[in-house]
Amino acid sequence: MDVAPLSPEDVDAVVTRIARRLRDDARRNHLVAPALDRATTTDALRAAASSVWVARRGGVVVGHLYGAVLGDGADRAAWVGPDGSSCDDSETLASLYAVAGREWINAGATRHVAWALDGAAHHAPWLELGFARSSVRASRRLTGQRARPLPVGYRWRHGGIDHLDAAVMLGREIDRVQALGPSFLLDAGEESLRTNLADTLDDPETIHHLVEYGGDVVAQAIIFPLDPRRGSFDDSWHLSTVAVAREHQHRGIATALVDHALADARARGGQIMETSWRVTNRDAQRFWLHYGFRPTYVRLQRRVGSD
Ligand SMILES: CC(C)(COP(=O)(O)OP(=O)(O)OC[C@H]1O[C@@H](n2cnc3c(N)ncnc32)[C@H](O)[C@@H]1OP(=O)(O)O)[C@@H](O)C(=O)NCCC(=O)NCCS
Repeated sequence: MDVAPLSPEDVDAVVTRIARRLRDDARRNHLVAPALDRATTTDALRAAASSVWVARRGGVVVGHLYGAVLGDGADRAAWVGPDGSSCDDSETLASLYAVAGREWINAGATRHVAWALDGAAHHAPWLELGFARSSVRASRRLTGQRARPLPVGYRWRHGGIDHLDAAVMLGREIDRVQALGPSFLLDAGEESLRTNLADTLDDPETIHHLVEYGGDVVAQAIIFPLDPRRGSFDDSWHLSTVAVAREHQHRGIATALVDHALADARARGGQIMETSWRVTNRDAQRFWLHYGFRPTYVRLQRRVGSD
């Protein structure tokens, strides 16, 4: 096996491999969009050519791997999107990762992340390389939407940046739950939570749905239209930071809140809602699956270095 950076004569073959991979993903999972703009993909590959690694066997292209190195400090990571790899077998991925991974490490990225179609067969080549399932991206079509009511005493209200404190309080509930076993996500930063939520709520396209009880905010959901991205259909929306204050859980509040948020996205032209959860947040996973969201891509991740 020969591994080398992308050369101009390989670009067409790699674009064809990416198009085929997305088509195969979409055939296996009807919530995955097969669309690929060949011209844009060709330009993007050419622009990143020295970091796109191509494997050949007997002169024939049998795989490619590209990871975008993004972020700073501990957040710095190499991200392999659904279009970032196409390998005929595990051996090809291992050979490509051996070279690309070294480049990512040299660029300061010791966290390596890859999105693979949901399903054990699609994860196996990465798991063999020390990656583990981290979170799930899932979708639901915005048709046949139900509108289950809030329990008596609860009421809707719109939020926004003026409700940042409430948003942070409910965001902390997610961090609290995920710091417990079996998640053990111990490094959630209070400051980054506030900064991220402020950025999100400041965006004019973001809609912040709240639930109040006796004048207090007790639940939230945030929705916004998704920018186009590989594997997602146009007119997809994203649902995030859904949380219900601990003492109000198991009363049907999240169910009514998500009904309400999905109906709102639908009314604004949305066709599909996406969300995501940590695989170790088992209560959240049960809730989302029970609600009717279905996984599309799974985030596989590893941190290199001594353990
Ligand atoms: C996940 C979460 C949002 C669910 O909120 P909730 O208001 O408790 O959800 P609901 O009450 O609508 O449904 C939860 C469960 O209670 C059940 N339930 C609903 N109404 C009920 C009632 N009146 N009595 C008893 N159980 C009820 C539901 O069937 C559901 O069961 P399931 O988990 O097997 O699907 C909430 O647990 C939470 O905020 N968790 C911490 C933050 C978090 O992890 N957020 C998700 C991030 S991805």
